Amino acid sequence: MLRKLAAGNWKMNGLRANLAELAKLEEKHGDAGVDILICPPATLISACEDTPFDIGGQDCHMATSGAHTGDVSAEMLADAGASYVLTGHSERRTDHGETDAMVAAKSQAGYDAGLIAVICIGETLDEREAGTTLSVIDTQLAGSIPATADAENTVIAYEPVWAIGTGKVPTLEQIAEVHAHIRARLTERFSDGAEMRILYGGSVKGSNAAEIFSVPNVNGALVGGASLKAADFSPIITALEAASNF
Ligand code: 13P
Repeated sequence: MLRKLAAGNWKMNGLRANLAELAKLEEKHGDAGVDILICPPATLISACEDTPFDIGGQDCHMATSGAHTGDVSAEMLADAGASYVLTGHSERRTDHGETDAMVAAKSQAGYDAGLIAVICIGETLDEREAGTTLSVIDTQLAGSIPATADAENTVIAYEPVWAIGTGKVPTLEQIAEVHAHIRARLTERFSDGAEMRILYGGSVKGSNAAEIFSVPNVNGALVGGASLKAADFSPIITALEAASNF
């Protein structure tokens, strides 16, 4: 039985005032039956120390320290109170040219600091339309996951780039196909690959969460826009608690 994970990625949103949303979420889900992860901007991580939820960074540098102006190391995230870090989000891959090798190095830096890496992968619309989704996924999985990954230190997030922030969601069959493919690759490569959690991300909302969580090998969600307000994130958490397919 895999522990279900509802993860919120606030991206570059959130000031101290927005932490009130976490207090509201705690009222309803302070002792939820699923893991809840919030990835606020790095500036708010230490201000989250009183929340019962797991806290994660949205990125880290691959080095522990050094002359890297503006960057944040995994050790710094852990020191500020994080226990997770997102790596390889498509917005990092696009905006900052992050390659699979960089994503693997950042994930390893996360492990070295004691963090769980949520390694993000997903195809673009062009790749989907060209019929290359599964080969793109294969390349990203092979290149982005360190050899030292295991079910304790790693979560995979499948986020089709074309579904992020667009309101477009793949069909349940499309999600099922990719998640089954990811599961097969993980079990081929890692002895505990069957236990690695795989999240779906991309336009998850309260209205579509239950059906997405009914898909085999979907072990939770990585939620962007709908994680910013407790009123939007709460029904997603409730749907995950009710999901019974794993
Ligand atoms: P949305 O839920 O806003 O589509 O964002 C998904 C995402 O990128 C989470 O990392």
